[in-house]
This record gives sequence, structure tokens and C-alpha cells, in this order.
Amino acid sequence: MALLLMFTWPGFTSIHQRYLTRYLLQPPLMRLSLLLLLTVASALVVDPSAKYICSEEDSTDCYPQIFVPTEEWKTIRPGQEIPPGLHVRINMETLQKEAKLMSEDERESEEKETQKEVENQVPAVYETSDVSTFNGALNAVLKFGDKISATSSGKLNEKDIENAAETLVDLSHDLEHGVRLTQDPKIFISILDIADNVGLDLKEKLLRIMGSSLRNNPEAIGNVLKLQNPQFINRLFDYLEDKNAEEVVKKRVIGIIHALSLNNSFKLEYLSLQRGRGIDRLVSVFPELEHASQVRVMNILEDLGLVADLEKRQEESPQLEFSNFLQSSLHERKVVAEPQFQLYFNKLTQLHKQNKDLKPTPEFLQWLAQEANVRVEGHKDTRDISPENQDFDRQMLQARHEVFGNPNAMRKAYLDEL
Ligand SMILES: *[C@@H]1O[C@H](CO)[C@@H](O)[C@H](O)[C@H]1NC(C)=O
Repeated sequence: MALLLMFTWPGFTSIHQRYLTRYLLQPPLMRLSLLLLLTVASALVVDPSAKYICSEEDSTDCYPQIFVPTEEWKTIRPGQEIPPGLHVRINMETLQKEAKLMSEDERESEEKETQKEVENQVPAVYETSDVSTFNGALNAVLKFGDKISATSSGKLNEKDIENAAETLVDLSHDLEHGVRLTQDPKIFISILDIADNVGLDLKEKLLRIMGSSLRNNPEAIGNVLKLQNPQFINRLFDYLEDKNAEEVVKKRVIGIIHALSLNNSFKLEYLSLQRGRGIDRLVSVFPELEHASQVRVMNILEDLGLVADLEKRQEESPQLEFSNFLQSSLHERKVVAEPQFQLYFNKLTQLHKQNKDLKPTPEFLQWLAQEANVRVEGHKDTRDISPENQDFDRQMLQARHEVFGNPNAMRKAYLDEL
């Protein structure tokens, strides 16, 4: 009785996989014979340029190097290559490997099976198992980002993107991964797009990915600044001004801005008082931020050299430090353009109204008395005399007494000065 083991031979790429799978599924006796076969086959050395192979025992026993199949089972000789698409079996009596052509029906069903395997693999690569790898996670991010930008009501399977985010949170600390995350500007855009459409936990993770891929990573920072358009930076600052944005989101965004501030061009463009583009937005939101975020903003200002080092300042009171920063920016005339000047003064007033422990410095008070007088007497002649500006002047005079001075002296002084 011939015990036959049949398996197919679809091509060289998937052969090992199939061979092993089927091998492991066989009863032990068959495993042994298959193992023998593998051993024999790998022991043969065949000249690849030869078209015929001759037996070592009998030099007249020669056969083609490439197996020529027929409709019937035929023994495969040692060293023969088997073309793809054949049935192959081992005859368990003779322990010879045999092959024959597949019928048309068999070929079709084989092709269908292969096709099915390929189809089953595609979603697996992008959606499930593979998001635990860096590339799989990136693919998921890009795919979901596309979905969101294509349809405004993009339905997301949050579980998949959560897993991808987990992977990227872990890997983004690595410098090289940070560089790869920033090489294609679409990745960070997708991350922001997704962040705008998901729950808080996932949003926080996505923003953390950006922060940690940039932290102390000059190449990644350079990539973002070179490849993203300014709209990207604006979107980050927008989060800080969004009244509905959660504090942890703002904290993460401040982290990203801090990371970018390592780059000199970014520093000059966004965080210098002269240009004011980004720093004015930080000043504008500061009084409404919570303590932890305020501390982070102060860390940025410290790294920019705009306030004293951490050792010299009280970390406990970012508001005190921020107040001192605003006061000195004003009385040392570092902010002179009228809208910027008014912003800094208004924010200082707001902060001192919120926190009664804050005190003005003598230098600031001295400057304020002069400045208020100059304004009220109309000597601020380089400026438009608009109702808004006159309003501001009045508020400044008022704040001088109510917020920064002795409120009881206010009434008399106000009348005197007017
Ligand atoms: C800073 O970013 C710019 C792009 O805006 C880039 O050309 C430059 O190389 C970066 N600087 C450093 C020190 O990485």
C-alpha cells in the first residue's frame, strides 16, 4: 500500500512556508520522510549552468536539470529543479519525490487559494497585527489621516489608531525614528488631523508623539521647519487659544513649541520680542493657563534667555516670574510697537488682578508714572489718536493706581492728572 503525501508546489517564494506548515501538520512518520527528503536535496551540489545532470555512479545516466512534467506521476531525480505550478508528492514506499502537471481545475483552485491568502494579508498588514511595528503604525496614521481629510465625517476605528499611537509613543524617543516621523510632512499633518477628531486620551498620545520625536533632535526639528508650511506652526499655537482645549493638550503643545525653540531660525521667527509672532501668543494665553502649563512656558522663556535661570527664580511661582518678565519688557522698552505694548500691559494688569500677591517693582512703577503722564498729555504723537488708544490710555492710568498702587489714592490722583 502506498502511503502518499501530496502537496503542491506553487512557486519558490512561498515554498518554505508551506513546506514547513504542512510538515508540522503531518503525523511523525511522514515528518521523518520529509525531513529525509530535505536533507538529500540540500546535500546535492548542482552546477547551475549545466542543462543536464549525470549520475555519479553511472555517467551514462543523464537527465535534464529542469524537471519535465507530464500528466502522470514521475520521479524527480536528484538535483532537478521543479517548475512552479506542479503537484508534488512523496511516494512513501520508494521515498522518491514525484511530480505531475496540475489539471486546469486544480490550477484554478490553487490560484484562488493563493489569491485569498494575499487578500487576507493586506488588511492584516495595515490594520491589526502590524501596527505594533514602526512602519505598520505609520501606515495606519497616514491611512486614517487620509480618511479624515477625504471625508469630513471620517469614521475611525479608534482601536487601530490607538494601537498605532502606542507603538509610536514608545518609538518616537529614538532619534532615528524621530527623523523618520518628520521626513514626510504628511505624517505630522495626519497626526494633527486625527488628534482633532478623537477622544482626549488618544489626542494626548498623538501630541506626545510629536513632542518626543522633536525633543533634543535637531535633525527632526529641521525637517519640520523645512518641510511643513507655516500653517502647521499656527495650528499648534491655535490649540493654546482654544477655549475648549483641555489643559493636558495645551501642555503637550507647549512641549512641542519648546522642542522647536532649540532651532535658531524658529527662535528668531517666532519667539523673539522683535517679531513677536509666537511669543505674543504665549503672552496672550498665559494668565488663563493652569500652573503646570505656566511653569512650562516659563521654561521656554528661560531657555530663550528672556528670564533668569531656574536656580535664580522661584519655580513655585511662574506668575511672579512672568509678571517680572512683562514689567521689564515694558519699562526697558523691549516692546514698543503699540499693539504689542498694549497686549503686554493688559496681560500684566490681568495677572495682577488675578493674583494679589504679585507686586510691581520700583523701576516699573517709576516708568509707569511717566508713561501714563506722557500718554494722558497726548505726547504719544507717533501714534494714531483713535478712540481705542484713548481708551487704553485711560485704563493704563487707572491700573496704575487700582492695580499697581494704592487704590485709595486713585480718586485724587485721577482727578489731578486729568
Ligand atoms: C533650523 O531650521 C531651519 C529650517 O527652518 C534649517 O534650515 C536649519 O538647519 C535648522 N537649524 C539647525 C541648527 O538645525
